[in-house]
Amino acid sequence: MRIAVFGASGPTGRLLTDQALAAGHEVVAVTRRAGSVAERPGLAVVVGDATDPAAVAAAIGGTEAVLSVLGVPFGKETVTTYSVSATAITKAMARQGVGRLLAVSSSVADPDWRPSGAHFFNHVLDPLVNRRLGRTVHADMRRMEATVRRTDLDWTLVRPSGLFEHPVVTDFHTAETSADGLFTARTDLAASMLRELEERRYVRTAMGVITTAVRPNMARLLWNEGVKKK
Ligand SMILES: NC(=O)c1ccc[n+]([C@@H]2O[C@H](COP(=O)([O-])OP(=O)(O)OC[C@H]3O[C@@H](n4cnc5c(N)ncnc54)[C@H](OP(=O)(O)O)[C@@H]3O)[C@@H](O)[C@H]2O)c1
Repeated sequence: MRIAVFGASGPTGRLLTDQALAAGHEVVAVTRRAGSVAERPGLAVVVGDATDPAAVAAAIGGTEAVLSVLGVPFGKETVTTYSVSATAITKAMARQGVGRLLAVSSSVADPDWRPSGAHFFNHVLDPLVNRRLGRTVHADMRRMEATVRRTDLDWTLVRPSGLFEHPVVTDFHTAETSADGLFTARTDLAASMLRELEERRYVRTAMGVITTAVRPNMARLLWNEGVKKK
């Protein structure tokens, strides 16, 4: 299948691109930074902003599916990237007859997501980190979700929990609406999207995805996500 990947230069996007190429897909990798995605057979790199309708239309031409893993760091400022890119992508898809969309959101977008047994997370970290520091990001993810839901596309909203690095794909778990767990390896997030592309189990609904086989090293996760990524 020929697929467009938005956010292809990011930590999940790179894994998704690698896994998609390894599975025999052709990938159109969309990035704002020329040279940030290594050229390889089966891969076409398109430089453009996902919020720019003309750039988006050019990127998705001739594809059969669009996978969006683009993201914005937490901050105080109002975030619009998720919702504005969702509008550009879904309009271009409808116009060009590209039917299948998988867009990454977050477990936090499910208002009822409270992982079981995670008392410290549910009562301290989630209110502080996700509902406060991540407020503007999650507000825009919810706008993106609403935009996607209003379309006639075959969409899947993909909701991972806290992302961490793990070298291999594990026996990840998916569930409708959201999954009962705190963490998702980026390798598993990418693999779950490609599996859903084939299986179509969560069309026109949200798919939670979590990693249960391994847990992240918390010191490394805080360093990678909180310090190094800033
Ligand atoms: N971190 C977590 O714990 C967590 C939890 C739940 C969900 N998520 C979500 O999971 C997804 C993947 O996260 P990640 O950490 O792998 O990636 P990320 O670092 O959040 O972002 C990936 C890429 O998005 C691209 N991007 C941003 N704005 C863009 C724009 N206007 N046009 C085109 N590309 C744009 C950037 O690439 P260029 O600069 O090259 O364009 C960036 O490398 C994100 O949507 C994130 O919000 C994260």
